[in-house]
Amino acid sequence: MSSGSSDGVAVVLVAAGSGTRLGADLPKAFVRLAGRPLLRWALDQAFGVSADNELQRVVVVAPATHVRQAQALLTDKEREFVRVVAGGAERSDSVAAGLAALADCDAVHVLIHDTARCLAPAELFDRVLAALRGGDEAVVPGLAVTDTIKLVDKAALVTGTPPRASLRAIQTPQGFTRGAITRAHAHGAQATDDAALVEALGLPVRVVPGAASAFKITEPDDLDRAERLVRTDARKGAR
Ligand code: C5P
Repeated sequence: MSSGSSDGVAVVLVAAGSGTRLGADLPKAFVRLAGRPLLRWALDQAFGVSADNELQRVVVVAPATHVRQAQALLTDKEREFVRVVAGGAERSDSVAAGLAALADCDAVHVLIHDTARCLAPAELFDRVLAALRGGDEAVVPGLAVTDTIKLVDKAALVTGTPPRASLRAIQTPQGFTRGAITRAHAHGAQATDDAALVEALGLPVRVVPGAASAFKITEPDDLDRAERLVRTDARKGAR
């Protein structure tokens, strides 16, 4: 995979979530989809990036209790450039732990990806990277929303209705220049995605078209949807 090229790509795969909402008795990254752990699916999708986007390093951020189990999912060849580190209490803590594992890596672009979106296709990684190579500092995949979205207050009263045409449901992988994502995470700030921390720096964040299959596996129904998708793809010989 990597020869240490100076414009290389690093991927941080956050996989330290609990899986509580999935009703699983083990961390979500180790729940099986068509017989394989979600983390293994996510790794395989990421490794499918085009040769132009050579991965210099992949960091898997695993639950502190499951670092060895995550390492055991890697092939000998993968162990040469994949590092497994322990995550933190919140998603942003896990991302920060992943970024710390890039200290000795000179990749200039960093993709941060939720293992829970384990069917996000390699083309989506390539699309985000293409925008970064085009000069953007922060790039996120997004889909148009079909529901009308309301803002509500704590008393469940509607405070506003943003125009639907200006809304996007944001996915991962989210891509950043090394400088932008390092600054965004420099002070331990928390957010539900990394782009929000970059926005807080005042930097522009570009949205590129997302992918339906990059949905997040959160509830049991999501896992059923993923099983159906994988079965359909297997019938078509796509995976
Ligand atoms: O909890 P949520 O579904 O938003 O998690 C999104 C991603 O962040 C998942 O892949 C999960 O494993 C990861 N995560 C993490 N560390 C946490 C919480 C979530 O790596 N403390």
